[in-house]
Amino acid sequence: MRSMSGPIRWRDGRLELLDQTRLPDEEIWLRCERAEDVADAIRRLAVRGAPAIGIAAAYGLALDASRFDEAAELLGSTRPTAVNLAWAIERQREAREAGADLAENADRLAGDQLESDRRMAEHGARLFGSGERVLTHCNTGALATGGYGTAIGVIKTAFDAGKVERVWVDETRPLLQGSRLTAWELDNAEIPFKVVTDSSVGTLMSQGLVDRVVVGADRIAANGDTANKIGTYTVAVVAARHGVPFHVAAPLSTVDPDTPSGTHIPIERRNPTEVTTHANAENWAFDVTPAELIASIITEAGVHEPPYDFAR
Ligand code: MRU
Repeated sequence: MRSMSGPIRWRDGRLELLDQTRLPDEEIWLRCERAEDVADAIRRLAVRGAPAIGIAAAYGLALDASRFDEAAELLGSTRPTAVNLAWAIERQREAREAGADLAENADRLAGDQLESDRRMAEHGARLFGSGERVLTHCNTGALATGGYGTAIGVIKTAFDAGKVERVWVDETRPLLQGSRLTAWELDNAEIPFKVVTDSSVGTLMSQGLVDRVVVGADRIAANGDTANKIGTYTVAVVAARHGVPFHVAAPLSTVDPDTPSGTHIPIERRNPTEVTTHANAENWAFDVTPAELIASIITEAGVHEPPYDFAR
């Protein structure tokens, strides 16, 4: 059976996940024997990023095909905002009903994700001028999709075409997906970048240091409202204030036609101890950027502008 490069490896009927909580200091692979191991890895963000969560869950179901319904319920309950999770579980349910092999179907979903990422990157890179300074939030690279990446895939392809001078990387409080993971990926890809605190976005934009913003998504409502890592909405508001184009890059599996608008998107709240252990805290993991602040949504099907019609 084919094994994937990236954060998810399927080898001889066993699943291995790159523990992203340990990056960039250590590259430790977790061996998952049961759906419970995968659910635990998803919950504690050892595997994370909406598309990668979906692929990991698909392999998790392959591990426990004999008790599919129980495993599907467990995996589906791990993180509420990323719709790719429910999407991937549904694809596995269909495969099972059709009598298909779940590991092979998970391989296929992973392969499709890589293909979507590549197409998205080509579409998105065309939006860039030359030598742009682009800002991104959270981590949307291969680590987050198991493929080539969404927003980071767009940025990499634009960079290869000479269209990116530098990337501004929001550190992404509280779990630092930007300064730990995006920085690690951009470093490996030899793309010039600087990490900034999340609260630097106003200063950067008011000084004219950002030409474009590209971020990923965990769920896109039918009207284009987009849930992504907490802090994304703030970036979008400041970008609108300064006339900086703000784009979302995500596969069509992140679009949820059953969610009419952002107010219907369930927002994950995580353990406050991820924020601080010294005081009471609240820890919303995502926020919603209203469609009116988004210049365009880049998917494998092309660059979508409002009013949205996300035919798959
Ligand atoms: O909590 P995380 O690290 O899973 O959040 C990830 C994000 O917010 C990403 O921007 C999103 O999932 C898109 S990943 C291609």
